[in-house]
Amino acid sequence: MGMKNVAVVGFGYIGSVIGAVLASRGCRVRGVDLNAQLVADISAGRCPLPEPGLAELVETQVAAGRLSATTDMAAVAGADMIVITVGTPLSDSFDADLGHIRAACGAIAPHVHDGQVIVIKSTVPPGVTRLMADEILRPQARVLMAFSPERLAEGNAIAEFNRLPIVVGGIDAASTAAAGAFWREVMGVEVIEVTSPEAAELVKLADNQWIDLNIALAHELALLADALPWPIDVLEVIRGANSLKKGQHYVNILTPSNGVGGYCLTKDPWFIDALGKRHGLELKLSAAGRSVNDAMPAYVFDQVDLFLKARGTAPADARIAVLGYSFKTNSGDCRFTPVAPFLSALTAAGYAGVAVCDPTVSATEAAQHGLSLTGWQEALDGADAVVIMAGHDAFRPIDVAAFKSRLAPGALIYDGRIYYDHDTIAALEAAGFVYRGVGRSALPEAAQRQHA
Ligand SMILES: NC(=O)c1ccc[n+]([C@@H]2O[C@H](COP(=O)([O-])OP(=O)(O)OC[C@H]3O[C@@H](n4cnc5c(N)ncnc54)[C@H](O)[C@@H]3O)[C@@H](O)[C@H]2O)c1
Repeated sequence: MGMKNVAVVGFGYIGSVIGAVLASRGCRVRGVDLNAQLVADISAGRCPLPEPGLAELVETQVAAGRLSATTDMAAVAGADMIVITVGTPLSDSFDADLGHIRAACGAIAPHVHDGQVIVIKSTVPPGVTRLMADEILRPQARVLMAFSPERLAEGNAIAEFNRLPIVVGGIDAASTAAAGAFWREVMGVEVIEVTSPEAAELVKLADNQWIDLNIALAHELALLADALPWPIDVLEVIRGANSLKKGQHYVNILTPSNGVGGYCLTKDPWFIDALGKRHGLELKLSAAGRSVNDAMPAYVFDQVDLFLKARGTAPADARIAVLGYSFKTNSGDCRFTPVAPFLSALTAAGYAGVAVCDPTVSATEAAQHGLSLTGWQEALDGADAVVIMAGHDAFRPIDVAAFKSRLAPGALIYDGRIYYDHDTIAALEAAGFVYRGVGRSALPEAAQRQHA
């Protein structure tokens, strides 16, 4: 295989992972982004994005001369393959905001030439790849154009991009074949060709709708487990339920937590809803899943608030340690984190003594969210409640002895996402703490409030 020249347009979370991995697989990669600071960082071998392993990968690939970055859109002229990974935020009307993707296609259009392959990987509703081809890019040159959904999960992005099958749908057979051949050759993964870009675009939305609804199911089971008058641990229920093989696969109910955040699941179900509306359909699932998942931070707040009030601790006097601020375990990404509405609820209820700890989040990022973070030791000191909102590896060493030496006697340990096993829970309870988790037996008062 000759060395492939690749331009990755939009070098944020997804673009930088794709760019660095393609470089590690022998491509010469140019990251193209409007953000001059980001481009300067990448050019210097630094990666500001908080994805495990990415900083090291960027550093080695830049040093090896295979990865570089620029703000100059003309850089795409030298590429055999152009991958577009700009953002597609949620618009005010709960639809996909195509502003960035239109701008990016418009900016590269004067520099594309016949035979180049252009793959959109930004999440877009069906029809957008063909629209960009017809309106913006094909009038410039006979480019080959396809859509490939990006399905990696933050926190494990590099490993996932290296192994996940890639779906490809081109605007014509030649485009599908060219894009498919690139992924097969460079990534060596399974490539699933579909017959249109629209099908490939819908694949991505289908995946994220499945994930969001599946988590909503886990959340409703958790709420039910908490509300029922028997001590049910929802994690046991899910493990049991998942042992059933149905059709080709096992039932696979995901894990409940303190909420669903991040850049994708908070918007992609709405893209499906809006798509339905545009085509005369009132779909019901997107709104249902979103509302169940969006309600979880308030549920966790209720549990903590009720515990403290039942214990006679007034909000003004309570000390609360919040472990985890990013939207998911082992990722430092804070976009749409469910911890933000949880903290707002605490503030609104008058809780002033709240300490937040998250070693995956930089001080700069925290400041942008109006937070100043503390270490876990400091956060736990004298706390009446510790609320674990992310299961970061960095929190694993906080053991029963650490809780014992720092928390107030009889404190609440609310487990939103670390999922302590039964031995640890027994040890915490033996140490005089009150353990609660999402779907792992709520306080009776909390269950009552849910029904009020
Ligand atoms: N974050 C995820 O886990 C994930 C997973 C799968 C798919 N996606 C999808 O991938 C896309 C990108 O997501 P992200 O999380 O990387 O977003 P991001 O905001 O981190 O990155 C987007 C980048 O594009 C740049 N950009 C914006 N307009 C530009 C333009 N006109 N020209 C060049 N660069 C431009 C921005 O400066 C930014 O660096 C979205 O459509 C998202 O839905 C994200």
